[in-house]
Amino acid sequence: MRAKSVEDQDSQAPTLFCLVGKEGLFCGISTPQSANGFYAGGSLYVAKDTPDTISRAGAKIAEALHYLKLYRPPLPAGSHWLELGACPGGMTSELLVREFRVTALDRSPLDRRLFQNPALVFHQMDVAEFRPARDDRYDAILDDMNGEPEESIRQVIRLSRQLRRKGIIVFTLKLPKVETVDAPLQLRDEIVAKADAAGLKLFAQTHLTYNRHELTLFFEKAAE
Ligand SMILES: C[S@@+](CC[C@H](N)C(=O)[O-])C[C@H]1O[C@@H](n2cnc3c(N)ncnc32)[C@H](O)[C@@H]1O
Repeated sequence: MRAKSVEDQDSQAPTLFCLVGKEGLFCGISTPQSANGFYAGGSLYVAKDTPDTISRAGAKIAEALHYLKLYRPPLPAGSHWLELGACPGGMTSELLVREFRVTALDRSPLDRRLFQNPALVFHQMDVAEFRPARDDRYDAILDDMNGEPEESIRQVIRLSRQLRRKGIIVFTLKLPKVETVDAPLQLRDEIVAKADAAGLKLFAQTHLTYNRHELTLFFEKAAE
């Protein structure tokens, strides 16, 4: 019988977490969801400096997909992601390795190694100029664009018309300067309010281990 993995935990079940350290044994009971992770007090290790690593950003989506399992079953292979701000392609490679289809956009060039994968379509252009075909549908949108978060969420909202109902959005909120706690939280509130007004409901948010001056926000599209 296969041993169960960390991600096989029931994210809603009260769980005994134990930490053995030099100082002794520390234990606590919590659901993984309320502990904000399957490794309570710890984090998923993602190798980010291997010869195949395209960019360290790949670790963010690897960790985000792991984190998402606290809230919902994983998207099946073949699901279609629209990726905004994809270059050089670390996140794209993580999506492709999980057998997702990816439509990736960026003004900059994508790492050439990725083009061997037929599940990838890349458009080198400004996201603001991208006009999907009327019938194009996505199961998820990933946004990792740098620049003004207000412009990023505007583009996500515009393109979310092509997102299926219950489709998800993984949004990296870039924080310009983190000097106080209040300013980033206010920016977070403004971005969440804009998304909410467009029918994109925040269902989770966190600072991933692999986020720097960023937060990762998770939205779900309420209606088609
Ligand atoms: C943090 S990097 C993305 C890293 C990428 N996710 C990865 O995994 O390698 C941000 C990217 O957003 C792109 N970007 C920012 N604004 C853009 C826009 N309006 N249109 C297209 N690309 C944009 C930049 O060219 C840059 O490549």
